[in-house]
Amino acid sequence: MLHYIPFVNRIEELKVLEELSARGLTKPLYLYGPEGCGKTRLLKEFINSYNNVGIYIDALEGGDIESALQLSKVLNKAIPFIGELVESYSGSIGRILAERIHELLRRLIVKLSLRKSRLVVVVDDVVKAIGIDRIEWYIKWLYELIWKIREKYEVKSILIIVTTSEGLSLDIVSRHTHSHIRMLWNLDKKAFLELASKLNPPDTATTEEVWRVTGGNPRAVIEIAIDYNWDVSKWLVDLKYRLLRVVERVKHRQLAKHLRTVIEDVDVIHSEFSEEMYNLYKVLVEENLIIYKYMNMLVGRELVENQELGIGKYYAWQIPAYRKVLSQLL
Ligand SMILES: Nc1ncnc2c1ncn2[C@@H]1O[C@H](COP(=O)(O)OP(=O)(O)OP(=O)(O)O)[C@@H](O)[C@H]1O
Ligand SMILES: [Mg+2]
Repeated sequence: MLHYIPFVNRIEELKVLEELSARGLTKPLYLYGPEGCGKTRLLKEFINSYNNVGIYIDALEGGDIESALQLSKVLNKAIPFIGELVESYSGSIGRILAERIHELLRRLIVKLSLRKSRLVVVVDDVVKAIGIDRIEWYIKWLYELIWKIREKYEVKSILIIVTTSEGLSLDIVSRHTHSHIRMLWNLDKKAFLELASKLNPPDTATTEEVWRVTGGNPRAVIEIAIDYNWDVSKWLVDLKYRLLRVVERVKHRQLAKHLRTVIEDVDVIHSEFSEEMYNLYKVLVEENLIIYKYMNMLVGRELVENQELGIGKYYAWQIPAYRKVLSQLL
């Protein structure tokens, strides 16, 4: 069995992150995207190979400092200082770190003489960790923090990235001008094929089928390959059990007719203005099935529409299989 899944592709994204970290940004970068599209993996890989001060914080990690943090090589002596900081507070480690970035940076910069460096800080899964009701405050706080750090420590550049797959938070964050918002999407076909080939696919027909149902979502691809031994139909059956709840929610609200139209064309959410459509939109976003996508991707362009994969101009199904399974359940 494959214990470690090699990192594939994301070459353009890594290049953009490299460029941004060299320049820095005056506002935090809010990176959102489908669940399992690879936000965490990309950012960890980036921090791992970053040749300046890079800190990755898993805001959801409860107890273990080694799993809550990933540091670039420059910081390999930093864990004891960070340990001291965490010990002086009670609560979940990831959250302590996420809310005390200022103190964390101050300690590191002073103790390791890191003035005039380039800093990158990633706070992963921020909405789940600090709560949707506090996200507005947090982003504004990060924004102010960037300016404080620039002034106080004369750093060459600073880049703060926060991630989430909570679609509802996007509405809140995009109300303000305190952040740059960018999207990360699932793997493209080439990267998907590269990943699939590392997971011993039985034949090309199966690989193609997995592309059609996952649209290149790496978590779904890995799950089908390993947990379902490439048996797509078994995976779809389990997905059906999961989505039945959603269909019930939709039917209870008398929105089945609207869901059918969204399955046909996801962009009707944008073109049909009714209270029912708005309620359905909220259900589908809350359940992490669709996502708003009229936004630049990290690589600086829009995700191209693709009817077959359920990707419209304004909205998209996070994974094409959701559409297929919901359609069967209806
Ligand atoms: N480029 C890649 N190459 C190989 N594996 C990948 C790649 N991107 C993601 N993965 C794998 O896919 C799975 C899901 O990725 P990851 O956890 O990074 O997604 P995510 O977007 O952070 O999800 P969530 O929204 O749930 O936090 C992980 O097992 C990860 O290692
Ligand atoms: Mg993640």
